[in-house]
Amino acid sequence: MTLDASPAWQALQVHCDSGLGTMAMSRLFKDDGNRTDKFSHEFDDIYIDYSKNRITEETLSLLFDLAEQQDLSGWIHKLLSGEKVNDTEGRPALHTALRANHQFVTGYAEEVQDKVDEQLANMAVIVEKIRTGHWRGFSGKAITDVVNIGVGGSDLGPLMITNSLQTIKSPVNLHFISSIDGSQTSNLLGKLKQETTLFILASKSFTTIDTLSNAETAIDWLEEVIVDKQEIYSQHFIGVSTKPDMMTEWGIPPENQLIFWDWVGGRYSLWSAIGLPIALQIGMEKFRELLDGARIMDEHFGTEPYERNLPVILGLIDVWNINFLNIQKKAILPYDARLKYLPSYLEQLVMESNGKSVNRDGQQVGYKTCPVLWGEVGPNAQHAFYQLLHQGTQKVMCDFVALKIRDDFDPSSHSDKNESLKAQHGLALANCFAQSRVLMLGDDAIPDSLKSSFDSPFKHYPGNQPSNTILMKEISPKTLGMLIALYEHKTFVEGVIWEINSFDQWGVELGKLIAKETRAALQDTKLAEQFDSSTKGLIEKVMS
Ligand code: F6P
Repeated sequence: MTLDASPAWQALQVHCDSGLGTMAMSRLFKDDGNRTDKFSHEFDDIYIDYSKNRITEETLSLLFDLAEQQDLSGWIHKLLSGEKVNDTEGRPALHTALRANHQFVTGYAEEVQDKVDEQLANMAVIVEKIRTGHWRGFSGKAITDVVNIGVGGSDLGPLMITNSLQTIKSPVNLHFISSIDGSQTSNLLGKLKQETTLFILASKSFTTIDTLSNAETAIDWLEEVIVDKQEIYSQHFIGVSTKPDMMTEWGIPPENQLIFWDWVGGRYSLWSAIGLPIALQIGMEKFRELLDGARIMDEHFGTEPYERNLPVILGLIDVWNINFLNIQKKAILPYDARLKYLPSYLEQLVMESNGKSVNRDGQQVGYKTCPVLWGEVGPNAQHAFYQLLHQGTQKVMCDFVALKIRDDFDPSSHSDKNESLKAQHGLALANCFAQSRVLMLGDDAIPDSLKSSFDSPFKHYPGNQPSNTILMKEISPKTLGMLIALYEHKTFVEGVIWEINSFDQWGVELGKLIAKETRAALQDTKLAEQFDSSTKGLIEKVMS
């Protein structure tokens, strides 16, 4: 039986058709003064209000039935104990083992703890050496700038976390290069000095052309001043990969290598040695706090009943919105600019995991899966795409992410600057809460005294756009660990319900292959003869 013909799915469909499918959320709030008590949950440093969704207690109960029918608790157990949940690649998805710290692990996850410890210890040595100025460049000077060369999961996690934790001052300047076109590389290298620059070549597969081509450009740049090739690799390169042999063959000596394993998915790898830039910025102790935060969420996910399990609740509400309320877009809206890269990070995590249309049995699914997800720093997006959220023809579900307290200034000090920053934090929160309220209520948010000035079709606000508000206590390694693990597990929950494998990414492979063929045609246009006329025309245009 297909999922959409199953009893739990059908029960949800009947429930939706009997009213909620068209109901205004404002009515749900009017009918129940305790709505937010019922549809919010606080866990450790995170409070989540999911009351601004078109759900009732019955909806949640039917969603829990769906989770039960899909054996979600069995899948959670399989994930956390290291069973081969990534079936198309025949391996586990054991990112949770990277942060388990010998606690809360079973099965294969437990067996790999010593390997994880060993790599963390290797990482600590490198981190200490660089942070204390003992890692020297070829001329004997200490390293001042570290450039991470990686893409996708080998870039976005460290980029997002280091930017989020920018108030923790790093003893070295960190930079990130990812794009294959080389413009970031050329721009950055123009500002750095070879003798004090160290590169991290980060690639799980060690075959990604984007990363290897940027690394080759970096080598050429180093060769401009370093005569001895050995010094380039031993003093100016660290490799992070699952492929030690390939790193060695490329030239990186074993003592400059950090490894991780094929059971760590690229987009789930910031907890491994791929997190080296994070540890360089915040130090190993705080890197471990990040891991601890994630483990706190892992334990919550693995032990709490569905009714109190945040990744389960949020995942199921997305399923409700997508499959029953027919909402196919999701916006991620952080109200602190330090979280600027959170949307980009989640674009990969969510869409590379669940952007699939074939189930685990290889059958085409007959229902919608992953939404289109994008986002931006909320206050900036208010001046850009919120127009569409408020008055467009698209239904969009939003995640607002805000902070209870700002930790980047001393709230107890009364200097003018601190007073202004405090006021700005208040402004950010006011905007965040106002936006989710207006998106939910629409015209009903207009105060009576202003109703007449909104009496125009151009000033009509349909509302009824669902949202969650995730209120973090502050931005810290621990809260970020919790937040990211929450999204990882929520993504997994959705994959389980939709019967898809969230841990492979075959969709990206064909493009890579065809790019090789196209590259050859750009060098020898005769090879473009067999291409379609559009591609052939483009090639001829650039070659003319
Ligand atoms: O092409 C997609 C992808 O394979 C991602 O899954 C991955 O995070 C990224 O490329 C980079 O891969 P690697 O770390 O192997 O260079």
